[in-house]
Amino acid sequence: MTVRVFGTADALSRALALEIARRLAANPRLVLGLPTGRTPIPLYRELVRLRRAGRVDFSRATTFNLDEFLGLAPRDPRSYRAFMQRYLFDHVNLAPRRIQFLNGATRDVDRECRRYERAIERAGGIDLQILGLGMNGHVGFNEPARALVARTHCTALKPATRRANAALFGNRAGAVPRQALSMGMATILHARRIVLLATGATKARCVQRMIEGPVTPRLPGSFLQLHRCAEIWLDQAAAAKLELPDA
Ligand code: GLP
Repeated sequence: MTVRVFGTADALSRALALEIARRLAANPRLVLGLPTGRTPIPLYRELVRLRRAGRVDFSRATTFNLDEFLGLAPRDPRSYRAFMQRYLFDHVNLAPRRIQFLNGATRDVDRECRRYERAIERAGGIDLQILGLGMNGHVGFNEPARALVARTHCTALKPATRRANAALFGNRAGAVPRQALSMGMATILHARRIVLLATGATKARCVQRMIEGPVTPRLPGSFLQLHRCAEIWLDQAAAAKLELPDA
């Protein structure tokens, strides 16, 4: 894994937004995998800024988001879909039909998961997958477990993850759905290139275990060690516990 350390989360976000703009210029049909959470918010803000300045064009790009809460319709303001509309989709020129999302309101979970896997395949696979990192090492909603599910699936959320997502639910962890749909680790690892973002001191311990520890389903992010083109982009606070950061 390549580790890149930036002075601040803003510097990291600016660099990644420019990198995405460059990749879109080289390949307008780029297929992007996108995360939610607090970490990518400055990245989305930068992308919106670049769009307003006419420096990035999403018109032929496709996006696939990683995950969605089960039981929430896309229009529900607490859904990840609504989050993405708010922070990115409403402000850039993505074609709505090329915005791909798991439907949390599905009546047939297995079918919805299969549909998503097929849609990724039909799009030619994900060129660049951006990831965040859960405090407990989860990516997407692949929670720490004895074993991981490879493909898109429905998963039970850990209490810590429900607490971490409480902000979308009026700060009430109890109101966060107990289940979610998520790309699996294999779905994620099939992306041609992966950039995982982690910022802030609260992620430092988890980042260290992910990079320097063993590959284990107890820390799903550690599976990125198996990918030939995975990069970990950190701010200094998140890199603080690493032995040999590639500064
Ligand atoms: C959520 C999402 C993850 C995200 C993680 C980290 O649980 N399902 O995809 O990476 O939170 O969130 P944050 O960036 O707010 O720390």
